Amino acid sequence: MTSTDSSNRRRILVTSALPYANGHIHLGHLVEYIQTDVWVRYQKMRGNDCLYVCADDTHGTPIMLRAQREGISPEELVEQMHKDHVDDFKGFYVEFDNYFSTNSEENRLLSEEVYLKNREAGHIAQETVRQAFCEHDAMFLPDRYIRGTCPSCGAEDQYGDSCEVCSATYAPVDLKDAGCALCGKPPVERESEHYFFKLGDFEEFLKKWTRSGTLQDEMANKLDEWLNAGLKNWDISRDGPYFGFEIPDAPGKYFYVWLDAPIGYMASTMALCKRTDRDFDTYWRNESESEVYHFIGKDILYFHTLFWPAMLKGAGFRTPTAVFAHGFLTVNGQKMSKSRGTFINARTYLKHLDPEYIRYYYASKLTSRVDDIDLSMEDFTLRVNSDLVGKVVNLASRTAGFINKRFQGNLSEQYPDDENLHEDFVITGEEIAGYYESRDYAKAMFTIMRLADRANQFVENNAPWTLAKDPEKTERLQDVCTITLNLFRILVTYLTPVLPTLSDKVAAFMNEETLSWDAVSTPYSGRSINKFKHMMQRVDPKKVAAMIEDSKESTPPSPAPQAATGKGSKKKDKQRNDTDDIAEEIGIDDFFKVDLRVARIKEASHVEGADKLLQLTLDLGKYGERTVFAGIKSSYSPEDLVGRMTVCVANLAPRKMKFGNSEGMVLAAGSGGKELFILSPDSGANPGMRIK
Ligand code: MSP
Ligand code: ZN
Repeated sequence: MTSTDSSNRRRILVTSALPYANGHIHLGHLVEYIQTDVWVRYQKMRGNDCLYVCADDTHGTPIMLRAQREGISPEELVEQMHKDHVDDFKGFYVEFDNYFSTNSEENRLLSEEVYLKNREAGHIAQETVRQAFCEHDAMFLPDRYIRGTCPSCGAEDQYGDSCEVCSATYAPVDLKDAGCALCGKPPVERESEHYFFKLGDFEEFLKKWTRSGTLQDEMANKLDEWLNAGLKNWDISRDGPYFGFEIPDAPGKYFYVWLDAPIGYMASTMALCKRTDRDFDTYWRNESESEVYHFIGKDILYFHTLFWPAMLKGAGFRTPTAVFAHGFLTVNGQKMSKSRGTFINARTYLKHLDPEYIRYYYASKLTSRVDDIDLSMEDFTLRVNSDLVGKVVNLASRTAGFINKRFQGNLSEQYPDDENLHEDFVITGEEIAGYYESRDYAKAMFTIMRLADRANQFVENNAPWTLAKDPEKTERLQDVCTITLNLFRILVTYLTPVLPTLSDKVAAFMNEETLSWDAVSTPYSGRSINKFKHMMQRVDPKKVAAMIEDSKESTPPSPAPQAATGKGSKKKDKQRNDTDDIAEEIGIDDFFKVDLRVARIKEASHVEGADKLLQLTLDLGKYGERTVFAGIKSSYSPEDLVGRMTVCVANLAPRKMKFGNSEGMVLAAGSGGKELFILSPDSGANPGMRIK
């Protein structure tokens, strides 16, 4: 077998990085999924046998802790997120052949295989490491879960591995006044046996692999730096409690999430192969039978270009044909920010705007390089309106009406002389195809729009609206409209990988099943079209503004049932602002969005199966009663609470938790654990009173 099948179609497997299951998809992620989806659609359109697989990346400490905070099991959290991710991708027309999960049997088996084969080949080492351990939370603390004073500059409340103020890097033991990020208590040092992947064994292989056309130049240069600095052993184990796969022959030890995450690419392929009766080995064992491509962001280069190919090599699997990295998204020239409303979740976008706008906008910005791309809201609006609506759809809206009304929907019998426009458009198609293939979508879009300019020039020059007034020019009118609609059809065919829905609408309008690249060379004539329906609306700047406003509001859906407790997982969890730093400045209007009320705790009880939660019934006077789950069990017994007055957030959207709906939030202060203090109003306050 070869990487093409009997009819010479390339056999291609494509992946995008697996999004973490502890957060929603946002416009930053979508740069990658749209970039990949366009490429896959292009390959399929050209007749290649192309598969696109992905999955949720489910394992690791942040997910385990988030589930704990929410009072649900990690499996439940992962399942809910899987549904949400699938919906979000669908909403943006990102079409996977399989969307899987790393928390799957296939992934467990493949992870074990990769590990055991590497072990047999002598690529696994064992070492005792000393690591910070929290006796209160009974767990080893990853660097990011230790906070303390920077040994270098004295800045307080820094991570265990590096200082955000002076950029120093250090070991957690060097941190002064180190505390557990969950409970605040100082960690102790404990020894633990860890497993390491001997990356150094693969130095020669990696040096060759990185220079064999697998990487963009910029990436290969970056890799040289790493290779020259020397390859260290990679710690692939974590101690329990850990949400992940237990390591064979090592009870209580788990694979570090980054070991099993890329193997998720294989697991997803395996599940797809089972379902569609394909051969897994064609994709992952026999290099010559297929091409394998990974699309990733530049932040995860190290994992995909060093660990991943080495692990595959060590286990006797094939290595990827190429890894394509893209840059990061900025919005209006800055990092996405919740307070500016530019941290835009996929679903917030979809509430306000058409997904094809952003697909086109990203396409118009993406190149084969690793540069960051900027989403400027103003540019977005202008670009989509002027290109898609003004230049492309407008071709049809200016001419279809005449064909519909004056010629009963019939195009000219013979395709007329068009000054070689049609032929030029067809020839330019190969250039455009080349740009898609090399991921130079910006050039592809630019070239398509230059063609659109020529088509519009043709319409201007021939002014069908003037021809329509002259009874002697009827035939010419039909010809001009026929030519224009043919050019329109070609343009939309070339845009199909980017704008699949517009393409479907145009196909229906032109009486075709789909627009296909191959059909472009034969002009359309002697057939009829359907009534022209509106195909794409202009971007309404008011809707863009509303989306930004909406993104500002969606900032605080805290996953914890209690407010202002615990330090939580800083930064990693972008939904939350539960650090000990003073939060970002807000205006008085923002403050008034939070409706704080006096409440009387009417009932309080334990929740079966929950370690941290108490169930409270709050009496809000004339506003009725609320059931709230609060994570205050470690500090209060139910009987301490009944009858007490407290403060609650009354306008928090109800949240579904494992044990029921939580309809608000009780305010408490402190770092969590036993150190937690419920807030109470002064005497005289009554249930239902607003706090302002
Ligand atoms: N779970 C890992 C990937 C494991 S792959 C075996 C991960 N997940 S992620 O959710 O943080 O990111 C998923 C992909 O989206 C990554 O390729 C990442 O680079 C990309 N992006 C996340 N935020 C982004 C931007 N703001 N801009 C562009 N791409 C971004 O990393
Ligand atoms: Zn702790």
